[in-house]
Amino acid sequence: MKIEVILTPAELPALKQRDLRTAACVVFDVLRATSAFVAALHNGARAIVPVSEISEALARRQKQPDVLLGGERDGVRIRAAQTGGVDFDLGNSPREYTPDKVRGKTIVSTTTNGTRALRAGAGAKTVLAASFLNLAVTAEFLRQLSPAHAVLVCAGTHENTALEDVLAAGALCEMLNELLSPSLSSLGRGEGVFQLSDSAEIARRTYAQAKSDLTAAIRTSENARRLLAIAELRDDVAFCLQHDIFPLVAGLEADGAIRVLATA
Ligand code: MLT
Repeated sequence: MKIEVILTPAELPALKQRDLRTAACVVFDVLRATSAFVAALHNGARAIVPVSEISEALARRQKQPDVLLGGERDGVRIRAAQTGGVDFDLGNSPREYTPDKVRGKTIVSTTTNGTRALRAGAGAKTVLAASFLNLAVTAEFLRQLSPAHAVLVCAGTHENTALEDVLAAGALCEMLNELLSPSLSSLGRGEGVFQLSDSAEIARRTYAQAKSDLTAAIRTSENARRLLAIAELRDDVAFCLQHDIFPLVAGLEADGAIRVLATA
């Protein structure tokens, strides 16, 4: 498996143009879109439909009045003033996606970077939404799928790289190495069943350096600092850094909805 990491959202337009028909794309928006999607699916949501624009979410609601609208702009729930009169039902905090709110529901979500990254990778044969909350099960799913090429997409913050996404991509590289080449003591970068591009090696080394205290590393990131400064969103940071509490694989299906593809 050849692994590449898209480190910055500036690369997303080029990713969208690529032929990804034989590739698997794994999208990370640890703070917080993919973490929220995984939490919603764990708590019984039927599907998440990621859309890029607020107007697309509103059009979807017009057609299907029973969908919930979720997402954020500037980190907070989208309000009537931004939509011409419709308050969104949910923001982008994974802690909001509780069973009582989401069970059996389809959620149409628009976020600043996460949904954009998912749309950019949508041409891939397999598209997964991943986070620390479901990383091990995602790695095992990829091992079984064994695509020739895996593209790990870091959704980032606005136009910039986000440290937490790079760390999650690096952690996945390390897990895949352990699953695919368990007998190797160091990573076989250019040979054998597991090959890392330079961008994947950057993510893996960044993770290796930070993993002894991932929370400390991520708390200094731009996104974490922004969330930590907002009283009601502060706890999202610790929530999203929990490992493997929701053992499900979240994948984008042909109709554009993310559903549970497998559970551990
Ligand atoms: C995004 O999609 O950019 C985010 O997940 C931002 C956020 O949740 O605040």
